[in-house]
Amino acid sequence: MLENLKEQAPDKIIELIGLFAADERENKLDLGVGVYKNADGKTPVMRAVKAAEKILLDSQESKSYVGLLGDLSYVDVMRELILGDVVPAGRICGAQEPGGTGAIRQLFELIKAANADATVWISNPSWPNHEAILKYLGIKVGKYRYFDEVSCGVDFEGMKADLSAAKAGDVVLLHGCCHNPTGANITLAQWGEITELVLAKGLMPMIDIAYQGFGDGLEDDAKGLRHMAARVPEMLIAASCSKNFGLYRDRVGAALIISKDEDEAALSKANLAGLNRLNFSFPPDHGAKVVSIIMNDAALRADWEAELEEMRQNMLNLRQGLADALRRETNSDRFDFIADHRGMFSRLGLSPEQVLKLRTDYAIYMVGDSRISIAGLPHGGLDKFAKAIASVV
Ligand code: LMR
Repeated sequence: MLENLKEQAPDKIIELIGLFAADERENKLDLGVGVYKNADGKTPVMRAVKAAEKILLDSQESKSYVGLLGDLSYVDVMRELILGDVVPAGRICGAQEPGGTGAIRQLFELIKAANADATVWISNPSWPNHEAILKYLGIKVGKYRYFDEVSCGVDFEGMKADLSAAKAGDVVLLHGCCHNPTGANITLAQWGEITELVLAKGLMPMIDIAYQGFGDGLEDDAKGLRHMAARVPEMLIAASCSKNFGLYRDRVGAALIISKDEDEAALSKANLAGLNRLNFSFPPDHGAKVVSIIMNDAALRADWEAELEEMRQNMLNLRQGLADALRRETNSDRFDFIADHRGMFSRLGLSPEQVLKLRTDYAIYMVGDSRISIAGLPHGGLDKFAKAIASVV
């Protein structure tokens, strides 16, 4: 039977992890997967996370099941962190999910259950797993223009033109902040325009927010999402704590649903619980409990916010440093956009051949579409990196 299985095309981000590990060159540089690294190249456990884990270790009295939706105090803190108070709590329900990917997967399944005919519109480009999961579930995929290859900014006119082809009941998937893979983001005014488009065409917005706090700060990164949430009747939100709490391997995510009214919120909630039961029963508890402990303790929360802000500043400094170094090495302003982009990634606009040459000649690993993970840049080696880029362009 097993011989009937089909070969699986590798996810290009995950594939890169293996290629990098197998490279024996000492000077190799990993700018692939989106994992934060400090100046020493380490991905440390955040201070508040360590402290909360100690509290959990000492206070936890049982490992019995919690509930299909997970820890509801965690769901509450995620609602507050992402939405603030812009939508009445009675219209919102949510579930703890295994990572941001788990949340995305469950919400895609919910879309399929609610409207099997819906097309889910994703940005071109988007995080590759969006399209992969949609296709796996047999959901129709539409793509809207997003990235302007020349300016390396957002092609907003193209985005609006393509979304105007969406039909009522279709879903438009937006990145809440820190667009992955490009680093180019829509402005608050543009969020307003997309909100009007969503309302006029009767679309369902779905927001993937995996990097809150990595762009312009915790509050600012949620502003566009909140603007829209306050105005639309329904919204789906997939959130991740992998990056902003550094809880990657603990798989901590949340699916939030804004419904028209409290009755529909109850229906959505029952569906989320049902989907969890069908896919894995109870979501993993440890990381979500850690988040809930941090967010409900003023001192731990302040320390978490401070460390997150240090990480954000670090990435901003690297962005500016790299843009400056590339200006010097290429004698042009071609790469100035890197300082304007926000979040963990920037797409450099290099060809696949140039990306491969950087890997072969310099042991520099970036995703084939020339996405670099900013936090992976070497603090003392920006000039060397810029020289390598200049040599291939
Ligand atoms: C990334 O885009 O590198 C991260 O979101 C990790 C992943 O799962 O792809």
